[in-house]
Amino acid sequence: MDAEVRKRFGEGRAASYIDALANVPLDRFGMALVTRDGTVHEVGDSREGFSIQSISKVHTVTMALDAIGDALWERVDREPSGDPFNSLIQLEYEKGIPRNPFMNAGALVVADVLLSAHERPEQVLLEFMRARSGSTDVGGDEVVARSERESGFRNIATANFIRSFGNIHNDVDAVLDFYFLQCSLKMDCVQLARSMQFLACGGYCGMSGKQVVSAQMSTRINSLMMTAGTYDAAGDFAYYVGLPAKSGVGGGIVAVVPHVMSLCVWYPGLDGKGNSQLGKYALHRFTQLTGLSVF
Ligand code: DON
Repeated sequence: MDAEVRKRFGEGRAASYIDALANVPLDRFGMALVTRDGTVHEVGDSREGFSIQSISKVHTVTMALDAIGDALWERVDREPSGDPFNSLIQLEYEKGIPRNPFMNAGALVVADVLLSAHERPEQVLLEFMRARSGSTDVGGDEVVARSERESGFRNIATANFIRSFGNIHNDVDAVLDFYFLQCSLKMDCVQLARSMQFLACGGYCGMSGKQVVSAQMSTRINSLMMTAGTYDAAGDFAYYVGLPAKSGVGGGIVAVVPHVMSLCVWYPGLDGKGNSQLGKYALHRFTQLTGLSVF
């Protein structure tokens, strides 16, 4: 499969809104999977770090559910949006309640929940990522975080818009700083696949030996990924890949085969909806070859 994907190098376009993403060459491909017992299988550039971007929204929504439970759903909905990840259009007529925790608007409300729940939310996030991935060296990339802020006009507008409806309770800049930090985290395919293992194991994280969320909640987080993890391509992902998945504009996609394994693929060229073009192709071939689609 590695060779099959490599033949198509150059497809898609790297995210262009910040230099750190725009400059990543389209000749990188990595894939890693972690089984329930922690065995790792990997191929290609699976140990090269990249910007995880929106993949972090899976981890932050997990932390928010842990902090306030189902009360989260009073502030964020659980519906697919059918709109791009950074869209504001539904927010006005839905009165500042984002459609789901994976679009930027929803992730900003989730960030606000974490700011209210923790005295040092950034530290709690880093500890969560390190414990889930089994790597103490996971951290934010300051250059990326700074450029996210400098070019983040739409996120800044979104956060202020939600604030106008009273659905952000903390200082808007502090919420944005947290959000830009989570987007800037740098991890590789193995670390990311490991960080998702709890969603393949009924909420149990083998890396840390901790029950992160209940079995029921892990099922539900997977369902959110299936319906909204790839934004306005979620229907196409369900059709073509058939796994709960979450993408990021750094070119990473994480996916879960419930009760079997967690995966991560990385290829920096994106399709028109902000999902890794060959990452999606690799996941499609994976479920085609293994028959592991949840359908
Ligand atoms: O906030 C943004 O728009 C970007 N930093 C991250 C968006 C993202 O990764 C969307 N995923 N495909």
